[in-house]
Amino acid sequence: MAQRTKTKSQTSSRKKTASRSTTRRSTTAKRAAAGRKGGRARAAQRKTASRRRSLPPAIAKAAREMSRMMEGLSAPSDAIALLKQDHREVEAMFQQFEQLDSKPEKAKLAAKICLSLTVHALIEEELLYPPAHEEIEEDLVDEAIVEHAGAKQLIAEIEAMKPSEHLYDAKVKVLSEYVKHHVKEEENEMFPQLRSSGIDLEDLGEQLMQRKVELLARMGGKA
Ligand SMILES: [Fe+2]
Ligand SMILES: [Fe+2]
Repeated sequence: MAQRTKTKSQTSSRKKTASRSTTRRSTTAKRAAAGRKGGRARAAQRKTASRRRSLPPAIAKAAREMSRMMEGLSAPSDAIALLKQDHREVEAMFQQFEQLDSKPEKAKLAAKICLSLTVHALIEEELLYPPAHEEIEEDLVDEAIVEHAGAKQLIAEIEAMKPSEHLYDAKVKVLSEYVKHHVKEEENEMFPQLRSSGIDLEDLGEQLMQRKVELLARMGGKA
């Protein structure tokens, strides 16, 4: 019996030691993970900074042009008006692209399309989707985020190509179809829900506009 008690006590002591060791391991693992996370965040910042420095000249030029165009524009009435205006502009650019034969013109317009979509996706992801996720059907917002990721992949591929390369036109076409589908879902499903949500769309419109101006200035090398 005494032997059994001793065994129990030993077992309990072993458990405690094991538990302390697990706690130590888990703390060390947490610290290591935090370190890795911090390292990853710093690496991501460096990557963003270097990406900013090495922005293709065509994209930087398109950003400066868009920045200049925005100086004369009055701000749309609210967030939905601003985003719809962006949608119409990019649709028009895709239509224009289909009419082009000249490769330098295609490259210039594709750079503008990719830039517009990049800035549009960024401002939506930074300022619209987080409150929308809280206020409206969250599946709609999650799907939109996944669709943005798919579009970004195609944008990166197009930006790395020349119009003379095989599949260039096909990639721009698929991107336009992709965007058409995404825009339809935003305008027919997400925006009506936003209208009846508690989000202050006028204030959000101003924030979106401000961020857009800021991003274009930075991409164009002004900030
Ligand atoms: Fe959009
Ligand atoms: Fe979107």
